[in-house]
Amino acid sequence: MPNTILVGAQWGDEGKGKIIDFLTDEADVVVRSQGGNNAGHTIVIEGEKYVLHLIPSGILRKSKTCVIGNGVVLDPVSLVGEIQGLQERGVKVGKNLLISDSAHLVLPYHRILDGLRESQKGGKKIGTTKRGIGPAYADKAFRTGLRTGDLLKPDLFAEKLTKRIKENNAVIKELGEKPLSPKEVVDESLAAGQILAPFITNTVVFLHEALAAKNSNMLFEGAQGTFLDIDHGTYPYVTSSNTTSGGACTGSGVPPNRIDHVMGVLKAYTTRVGEGPFPTEDADLSKRFHSMGREFGATTGRARRCGWFDAVSTKYSVMINGIDQLAITNLDGLDEAEWIKVCVGYRIGSKKLDFPPTDSEELALCKPVYIDMPGWRKSTENAREFSDLPQKARNYVKKIAGLVGANLSIVSIGPGREQTIRL
Ligand code: GDP
Ligand code: IMO
Ligand code: MG
Repeated sequence: MPNTILVGAQWGDEGKGKIIDFLTDEADVVVRSQGGNNAGHTIVIEGEKYVLHLIPSGILRKSKTCVIGNGVVLDPVSLVGEIQGLQERGVKVGKNLLISDSAHLVLPYHRILDGLRESQKGGKKIGTTKRGIGPAYADKAFRTGLRTGDLLKPDLFAEKLTKRIKENNAVIKELGEKPLSPKEVVDESLAAGQILAPFITNTVVFLHEALAAKNSNMLFEGAQGTFLDIDHGTYPYVTSSNTTSGGACTGSGVPPNRIDHVMGVLKAYTTRVGEGPFPTEDADLSKRFHSMGREFGATTGRARRCGWFDAVSTKYSVMINGIDQLAITNLDGLDEAEWIKVCVGYRIGSKKLDFPPTDSEELALCKPVYIDMPGWRKSTENAREFSDLPQKARNYVKKIAGLVGANLSIVSIGPGREQTIRL
């Protein structure tokens, strides 16, 4: 398998975890390069469900190496919990996991400030996962962050962390919240650090040795989705990292000329969790999916907002990520629909737009221009070959691929590993 970056082509939760797990069969190394435990990637193997937040979804396959790269922000206590949770379920997490010594830490004051800043925003809140992601990336950019490598020098770490806690406590107190106990935070972070120490290394060197000596096949597991990208997303209703394909290179240290393909994962419709503009949002579709028990967040359990497939935004996503392969998931979600809407343009008043405006307020004013496609009204969940799908379902996915301008590579018709059609 060539080196492939896998990105979410919409607003996250496209089914990246499931597709990564499927593709890992052909890969040697799976790399996370951005985001943190705001991500929730669901994998279902023989009816058993796993939700991964920080650990690459490749961990569920034997003899594969998983890497948490330098671009990730990592909550050490939460990561220890995730490792132990997997080990309790019989999943091997040992030499098969490497953690970059340069990944920034998410610490308790980041989580508190994330929550406090959200509640201060009132009606203008972002709807974050409250995992401390924004404040941790802000500290990284502000050059006041602590990194996993710091955990390897406990005395110095304790000194640096105590100083940061005192600085942040002043802000926390001002915002009316109880200050943190420096000793408690230092102790719990160092305890987690002791468990994580054997995993922490210079992952850039490992990745380049793997590329040079063994010509390893690498899969880069994106978190979140294109329109949550800090640069290209619906700012300010975004996350705080580059979720687009370029982020995989800066967040891992593997250069662009070693990347062969970019696969975009997209749902056959659209979902979004959190606030922000969403042109094809449809209350009836949301109601229908929620009543089917579908579309509840894997990290926060929040009901996802649902809407029709948006070819305008996804085409833009294909362009900025360089997507050449598409994995369309959740096709089965549309099995019962009589008619399916696909957004092929936006209008603001009499003005027609071919690209989504970069301004969120303008995007919120966009009215979708739809075409209607006939539904197939048959279950697709048992299809295993493309030819098993009803003709109208095949027409639908081909139409989507044509509209956004990339090759159809995978169609997913259920959460299970086996419910995956490779074209
Ligand atoms: P990720 O964050 O992109 O990995 O996606 P999530 O795991 O947060 O959300 C995707 C949801 O859709 C999960 O519940 C998956 O188990 C589920 N899923 C993925 N592909 C399919 C599919 O083709 N059909 C159905 N019914 N569920 C799917
Ligand atoms: P996966 O990897 C869907 C959303 C939040 C919020 C915004 C900012 O599972 O696709 P943050 O906590 O990152 O500061 O929140 O981004 N968000 C996600 N939405 N899937 C995700 O990850 C998300 N990670 C963050 O809901 O709107
Ligand atoms: Mg998710």
